[in-house]
Amino acid sequence: MPLRDKTVALAVTGSIAAYKAVEVARLLLGAGARVLPLLTSSATRFVGPVVFSGITGEPAHVDMWDPSFAGELHVSLSARADAMLVVPATCDVLARLAQGRADDLVTATALCARGPVLAAPAMHPRMWAHPATQRNVEELARQGRVSLVGPVFGPVASGEEGVGRMADPADIVAELARLLAPSDLAGVRLVVTAGPTHEPIDPVRFVGNRSSGKMGFAIAAAARARGADVTLVAGPTALATPSGVTRVDVETALEMQAAVDAAMGADLAGADALVMAAAVADFRPASRAQGKIKKGGGVPEVPLVANPDIIAGVGARRGGAPAPALVAFALETGSDEEIVAYARGKLAAKKVDLVIANAAGDSLGRDDNRVVLVTADAQTAVPRADKRRVADAILDALARRLRR
Ligand code: CTP
Repeated sequence: MPLRDKTVALAVTGSIAAYKAVEVARLLLGAGARVLPLLTSSATRFVGPVVFSGITGEPAHVDMWDPSFAGELHVSLSARADAMLVVPATCDVLARLAQGRADDLVTATALCARGPVLAAPAMHPRMWAHPATQRNVEELARQGRVSLVGPVFGPVASGEEGVGRMADPADIVAELARLLAPSDLAGVRLVVTAGPTHEPIDPVRFVGNRSSGKMGFAIAAAARARGADVTLVAGPTALATPSGVTRVDVETALEMQAAVDAAMGADLAGADALVMAAAVADFRPASRAQGKIKKGGGVPEVPLVANPDIIAGVGARRGGAPAPALVAFALETGSDEEIVAYARGKLAAKKVDLVIANAAGDSLGRDDNRVVLVTADAQTAVPRADKRRVADAILDALARRLRR
């Protein structure tokens, strides 16, 4: 019951979905939380403060400069609140939160927040898809201080359909409960690899693959949020480092292997778990030309040699010992049955505890993914969701394994 006796600042901003914030307030109260309502002045055009003060028994604040309040309202609200919700969150408030503006009570309170801030965007799908909004969303993810729930696909106020509809009130409250749950990975030392590797042919060319690194970065960010001590070994990618995560950049499979070995230690005692989300190149050019290969010399032959299988090496070294926990990915093409069968093969061949099976078309470069968690005695499908949510499902399975 993570919401029982918690105090939640409920910030309402000016979207037609504002009426659903009333339902969110009721659900929070029903879960045993105290609710401190605050509204932007545009929100009051959609729903009145009296509704919120009436059901929460707390004053619904709109004006940061309310002279009847003794003290600083945003400081007082943020000091009392264990968490803050922004429901609904307009694209304007997302922009202001991303910029760190403090030009009204909602943004000033969010900047001052002590605990998690969770925003539930609601807007027309074209506003959500706009590059400016997406840039603000990425910036919020990079800062790691405001997380989002939704928006989801469905009908919006205009009657059109798309991604822009606010998440259901129950899902918003469930996500807040999850954020307030105790950190189940506190103190766990986790090594995560992410992204592709680039295997140089000459100083300007390489052999590589289409991995974006998003899944591994999402796992690193989610594990950090759950209290883990995370080392992220990243192949070439432009993604921003999740806050609180130690990042080691590498280019090649051999460099990645060296970084994983350094993080885990020769006896593997330096980590409690390894999650190999990287798409390691299986082959590298046998040699790297010192200078750029000129096309005048004819079509070059580039002999390849095999790279070491990094996680299989760790699996072999661990032998029958229970620790560290080992998680591999299987990125495959084929039917769901084939993909799970390949994953099961990798579970045994690499001597790991969990294989995350996914299809290349479902995953590569995308912000969402659909996976099957394959262990020796079970397989669990995780439906298509944002990679951050998939990351949490993977970490739930890892946390269960670590508790055993
Ligand atoms: N992996 C690794 N070292 C490699 C290749 C892969 O540690 N040289 C890890 C990946 O990080 C992933 C898992 O092994 O966690 C499976 O990777 P994948 O490319 O799907 O499989 P492969 O082992 O390369 O097998 P195949 O090419 O037969 O699919």
